[in-house]
Amino acid sequence: MTHALPRNLTQKNPRMVRGEGIYLLDAEGRRYIDGASGSSLVCNIGHGVKEIAAVMAAQAAELACNPFHCSHTQAYAQMADRLIGLAPPGFAKVFGVSSGSEAVENSLKFGRQYQVARGCPAKQLTISRWQSYHGNTLGALACSGYTSRRRKHAPLLRDALHIPPAFCYRCHFEKTYPACELKCARALESAILQEGPENVSAFIAEPVVGAALGGVPAPPGYFEKVREICDRYEVLFIADEVMCGLGRTGANFAIDHWSVVPDLIATGKGMGSGYFPMGASLVSAKIDQAMQARGALFEGVHTCCGHVLGSRVAAAVLDHLVQNELTRNSRRQGALMLQGLNAIKERRHSVGDVRGLGLMCGVEFVADRGAREPFPVELKVAERVMDACMDRGLIVFPGHGTVDGTAGDHLLLGPPLVITSSETAELLAILEDGIAAVEREIAGAGKL
Ligand SMILES: Cc1ncc(COP(=O)(O)O)c(C=O)c1O
Repeated sequence: MTHALPRNLTQKNPRMVRGEGIYLLDAEGRRYIDGASGSSLVCNIGHGVKEIAAVMAAQAAELACNPFHCSHTQAYAQMADRLIGLAPPGFAKVFGVSSGSEAVENSLKFGRQYQVARGCPAKQLTISRWQSYHGNTLGALACSGYTSRRRKHAPLLRDALHIPPAFCYRCHFEKTYPACELKCARALESAILQEGPENVSAFIAEPVVGAALGGVPAPPGYFEKVREICDRYEVLFIADEVMCGLGRTGANFAIDHWSVVPDLIATGKGMGSGYFPMGASLVSAKIDQAMQARGALFEGVHTCCGHVLGSRVAAAVLDHLVQNELTRNSRRQGALMLQGLNAIKERRHSVGDVRGLGLMCGVEFVADRGAREPFPVELKVAERVMDACMDRGLIVFPGHGTVDGTAGDHLLLGPPLVITSSETAELLAILEDGIAAVEREIAGAGKL
């Protein structure tokens, strides 16, 4: 009996005791491939990196906590320098926080403060997309388009305007790329015009959609069109790179896959790689200079902002990522993963689509491949595949709502970026075995 509240109240979860590379070990000695890198694609550098533990212990012994409101530290400066070194050109400042949600909240606030500072106080609305996830604090959740996570809290949320996602497998406009001429990006312009450009502060999007869609990159040209529209109406573009940033997709930041520079970047997860809870807002020089010119202070502080211990860990994690060329490995292993997933799709009739960029991949399940018809929601196919994989020693991350916010099952796959080719093959073999078991189970119950 424990008083600790688990994420899933009905499930009997294993007790994890150790981690090494891509593997986790539970208290009963069972070994799992961590195909989700902790809680949804966090542990980019892999489990059990001793040098990070050593850096953390040394910093904790020296100085674990400092008064951020009236002092600064070398660790915070180092962390910021590392992030700016990895960011697209034109980024100037970093504000360190403790989670991805805080990074999103602060990016929204920085955007708003910039609009006020330059004399456009009416610009307050954020536009985002359906089938997106930006975090669980109320501001970030208001922008999120993940129905199952929003619905219960909807009365608490300030309205954000949602446009359709860039999701070619289930195109909202029933078009095919490239003949579609990127209607999904053009929807941003319609939304801005409907609301009045003078009222719109920012557009926020994940370059590769994680939890809500399962590894869906926007098509080529999408973000270039978004940038053009944002510039036309003086709307800021915020890239939410909390999950897809820092090597995960085989680039420093996922937006590097497009020829576009955002105005703000929210990052998190891989920044501390789970060794310490970290997040940050990266601020472009345009915003920084406009704020400084008007002597405006960034407002948006939390108790653990600029945390000295977290910053020291993040700087060490980012050095480890670069020194071990993990971004390159993510690109290489991601290509192998996608190739393997395509092969599984050929063999398993319940797999409707596979997608991804680098080691941020997804599998979408369907009852009917031709019609792209989802399974009935009550079959809980994604959870069943997760359970079947877990029984076989693989952890994956399930999700729902790809079709309409409710129907549509998918898995997100994102092992630590240290994975080798043989480990990728092992992961794929277990995954296919798990999917096959669920297909048999559903067919046996006469549900297909
Ligand atoms: C794209 C994206 N943004 C924001 C968040 C929120 O991050 P956190 O859970 O660290 O608050 C997440 C978490 O999954 C995410 O995937």
